[in-house]
Amino acid sequence: MHRDFLPLICLLILFAAGCGGATSGENDQTTADDDAHDQDDDTTVEPTPSNAIDFPDDFLWGVSTSAFQTEGGNVNSDFTQWMLKVFHRDLCGEAADSYDLYETDANLAQDLGVNIYRIGIEWARIEPQKGKYDEAEIEHYRKVIEAVVGRGIKPMVTLHHFTNPQWVQDQGGWRNAETIASFVAYARLMAKSYGDLVDYWLTINEPIIYASGLCLMAGYPGGSINNFPCAAEVSTNMMFAHARAYHAIKEVDTTDADGDGESAIVSIAQAIVPGYPRRPDNAGDIESARMYDYFMNKMIFYTLTTGELDANGDGDTTDEGDGYYEELAGTLDFLGVNFYNSIKVLHVPLIFGPIAGIPCYPEANFICYPHGRPPYLHGDNGNPIEPEEFHKLLVDYADEFHLPIVITENGVATTDGYFRSWFIIEHLKAVRAALDDGVDVRGYMHWSLIDNFEWLMAYTMRFGLFHVDFPTSIRSWTEGGETYSAIVHAGGVSQELLDRYADAPPVSE
Ligand code: BGC
Repeated sequence: MHRDFLPLICLLILFAAGCGGATSGENDQTTADDDAHDQDDDTTVEPTPSNAIDFPDDFLWGVSTSAFQTEGGNVNSDFTQWMLKVFHRDLCGEAADSYDLYETDANLAQDLGVNIYRIGIEWARIEPQKGKYDEAEIEHYRKVIEAVVGRGIKPMVTLHHFTNPQWVQDQGGWRNAETIASFVAYARLMAKSYGDLVDYWLTINEPIIYASGLCLMAGYPGGSINNFPCAAEVSTNMMFAHARAYHAIKEVDTTDADGDGESAIVSIAQAIVPGYPRRPDNAGDIESARMYDYFMNKMIFYTLTTGELDANGDGDTTDEGDGYYEELAGTLDFLGVNFYNSIKVLHVPLIFGPIAGIPCYPEANFICYPHGRPPYLHGDNGNPIEPEEFHKLLVDYADEFHLPIVITENGVATTDGYFRSWFIIEHLKAVRAALDDGVDVRGYMHWSLIDNFEWLMAYTMRFGLFHVDFPTSIRSWTEGGETYSAIVHAGGVSQELLDRYADAPPVSE
C-alpha cells in the first residue's frame, strides 16, 4: 500500500536517492520495448486439469496500474506542480512513458494472458482548465482503451488516483465541496465517451488513504499535519463525489461492452490495512486500533452501502450533518479491495483525532519500537508480508458487507523474482481459501503490470511483473511475471509451481 507517513522523511530519502531509479536483479531478459512482448506467444493455452489450486472458470485474472504512475509528463497535475515547487525539478518525469507506450503495455498484458487490465485516466489531461475539456486527450484515452479491448481484455478504468488538475488544487482541492460537482461532471463525460468500451469503473482510488495522507501527514499537495477534521471533510466530500459519479455513470453508460449483460459495474478501490494494537494488552492501543480500523478501513464501505454518514469520522452517525443520505446508499456494485499489509497502532493522545494514535509504519519504528523491532518478512519498502491476513480480511469483509469482492491491487516491492513468485502464490492460496469459505471473490489484479513512479519514493520501489529500465523505458520479463503468466494461462497454480516456490523467503533485518 502506498503510504504517506512522515512524508518529510520520505522526501529526504527521495532527495538522497534521486529519481534515476534502482536497478533490478529480477529481470531475466533485457530487450527492446516491443520485444518484451512475445509475438509468437500462444495466449490461448488450455487450462491444465492438473492444477493443484484451481479457480472458477469465469475468474477475473488481472493486472493493475494507474495513469499518473506510468504515463509521465503530466504537467497540469497538482502532483507534478508540487514536486516542481519542492524540488525545483520535475521528479515525476517520464515515469514508464506509458503515455506513448500504451500499445506495448497492452501487449504485455496480453502476453500474461489476463482477461482484465486496470488502467487509469488523468483528470488533469482531460480537463486542464476548469470547464475546458481537451478533445485530443479524450481521443488519446479512447485509443488507450481500444488497445486493451482490441486484445480481448476487459478494461477497468480508474477516474481518480491521488492526483488532481492544478486548478482543483487552486480552488481549495477536496476541502472545497465545489470539487464534488467538478469531479462528477468529469466522470459523466468519461462514461459518455467510453461507455461503449468499458463496463468496469472505479471512481476513486483509496479515498481514505488520500484524505488521511493529505490532512494528517501532508503527503499530497495542499496538505496539512494532524488535522483530523480536514481528513473527515475530504473523505465526506469524496464519498459524495463517488456516489454522484456512480449515479451519473449508471445513467450514461448503458452499453454492455463485453456482452455479459451488465453495462456499468461501479465501485471504489479501498486499501484495507487491518489495524491491531501495538501492545495487545494496552487499553489505549486497543481503542486506537479499533478506531483506526473503523476510520481507515470500514467507514467508507459502511456509508456507501447503508447510506448512513459519519461526517466527522468519530464513530457514530448522530452528530449534526450525520444520518441517512439516500444518494449514498447502495453505491458499490462490489468491494474493490487493495491489500498489501496490516498495521500495528500505538496510542498517542492528541494524534489523529478519534484514532488518538499512530500507525507503526517502518518510518515510525523509533516511536513504536524504541527497543528495536523484531525481524519480520517485508518488501523493500518495509511493509510486512502477511498472506494469512489476506484470507482473514476477505472472510471478514464478505460477512460484513455482503457484496462480491474484486481484488483491485495486491503486490510487493521487490527486485527478487523468487520473492514475487512466492508472494503471488501465497496470496492466491488465501483467495482460494476464501472461496472455499464461501466468499464471492470475483477476481485478482496484481499490482503492478510494470515498474512505475511510486509517489514519494519515486523510482526506488519496484512492483512490476515487467521490469522497466527508467532511462530508456524498455520493458523486460521478470521471474514474477513468468510465474504469474503461467498461473493465469493455466487458470490456477500447478503442483510444480507450488513445489518450486514452497519456501518462504528468508527474513531480513
Ligand atoms: C496505491 C498505488 C501504490 C501502491 C504501492 C496503493 O495503495 O494505490 O498507487 O503504488 O499502493 O504502494
